[in-house]
Amino acid sequence: MSKIYIETYGCQMNFADSEIVASLLQKEGYGVTKEIAEADYVLINTCAIRDNAEQRIRKRLRELRAQQQHNPQLRIGILGCMAERLQSQLMVEEENVSFVVGPDAYRRLPELLRQVRTLGVKAAETELSTTETYDDIEPVRLNSNGISAYISIMRGCQNYCAYCVVPYTRGRERSRDPETIVAEARSLWQQGYKEVTLLGQNVNSYRWKDGENTVDFPELMRRVAEVSPRMRVRFATSHPKDLSDKLLEVMASYDNICKCIHLPVQSGSDRMLKLMNRHYDSAWYLDRIAAIRRYMPDCSITTDVIAGFCSETEEEHQMTLEMFSKVRYDYAYMFKFSMRPNTYAEKHLVDDVPDEVKTRRLEEIIALQGQIALENNQQEIGKTYEVLVEGESHRSKEQLFGRNSQNKVIVFDRHDVLPGQYVRVKVVRCTAATLIGELVDA
Ligand code: SAH
Ligand code: SF4
Ligand code: F3S
Repeated sequence: MSKIYIETYGCQMNFADSEIVASLLQKEGYGVTKEIAEADYVLINTCAIRDNAEQRIRKRLRELRAQQQHNPQLRIGILGCMAERLQSQLMVEEENVSFVVGPDAYRRLPELLRQVRTLGVKAAETELSTTETYDDIEPVRLNSNGISAYISIMRGCQNYCAYCVVPYTRGRERSRDPETIVAEARSLWQQGYKEVTLLGQNVNSYRWKDGENTVDFPELMRRVAEVSPRMRVRFATSHPKDLSDKLLEVMASYDNICKCIHLPVQSGSDRMLKLMNRHYDSAWYLDRIAAIRRYMPDCSITTDVIAGFCSETEEEHQMTLEMFSKVRYDYAYMFKFSMRPNTYAEKHLVDDVPDEVKTRRLEEIIALQGQIALENNQQEIGKTYEVLVEGESHRSKEQLFGRNSQNKVIVFDRHDVLPGQYVRVKVVRCTAATLIGELVDA
């Protein structure tokens, strides 16, 4: 039996895709191994979102040359967004790559592996699709803790934010049949999973037409939440332009829908937001934040932000800091702008903020956010939460960690608690990243 080893980079959607790839190949008789030394094929599922994401993959490919010297039969394939962006050019630039497969072409993998092996050729398949959702594939849960799992509900993106490569690497937006989504959630619940995360680049634009009926994202959430009141439901990512009150209403009305919204702001400046083609301004964004707090006062809010987008002034950077001070996010993913080939920004704008200025602005955002996260966590001291236990704490075998509905990590002494259980924990201390608590008798 030939064995594949899969390595995944990038966003949650890529991790979900790797599970589809594993499933497709297992059906064809391939084994999946966690030991690279046993593998006949190494598949690297890549990200192209920023230049450093791609540099990391290229470095990894250099490291893998040593592995190939030990095992000359080893074939390396590149999957995912970098495969789609660079296509067969990648095999010219990286000599040790034998095949390149884009995100909509994974069904072709078994065929391509055969060609690579039996004909000794190189192969590329990077056609994007307007319909592929892999909705009939039951993913093989890789590296899963058996407690939480991802469910991909849509693919692609056509928002064309000026800085972003995703519309080019993932193709047109398309939604997956809700019945297959609910069936997957039900199957996970039956296997003992306690939490599912519904994934899409902009879940708010999820839409499925079924004759007269349209299933939109709030309705889909309702259906998944109904699978079991003891199975938690999360989702990512929400685009602020489409975050509806209807969704907030559904979230508020189900205890098992987690009270946590990731709402990428990108910038606090209206001119930047317009240039980024985000289709909202700071007033709209703050109105959506107010709506979240109105429906769910205990909801945590997280974000993504870009420092130093094309022509960003010092004043505009200050507006981003002000936005952070106003919203007081619980967590943020913070990035320096990286110009990506073929995007609107690359064609029409100039990457004119010097790197050291981008770095300094990013550091200012990180410092402010660190302070806010710590203060937010200090507010949690004394509160008691229901925590879904995920596993052993990294620091000590005597402690377990889990998350509350707000997605905050809580660490506590294990006693006789097991991963997968729900327990009640009272917060007694904190850092900026973690809450430390004590078990409370139910
Ligand atoms: N679909 C999601 C985000 C996907 S990419 C959304 O629209 O919110 C994740 C994050 O990477 C983005 O939110 C953005 O903050 C960041 N990002 C995307 N392209 C980037 C670029 N060229 N340079 C720096 N950061 C970028
Ligand atoms: Fe990229 Fe914008 Fe689509 Fe998000 S919504 S994936 S940032 S184009
Ligand atoms: Fe990266 Fe592709 Fe996700 S570019 S962030 S892996 S959609």
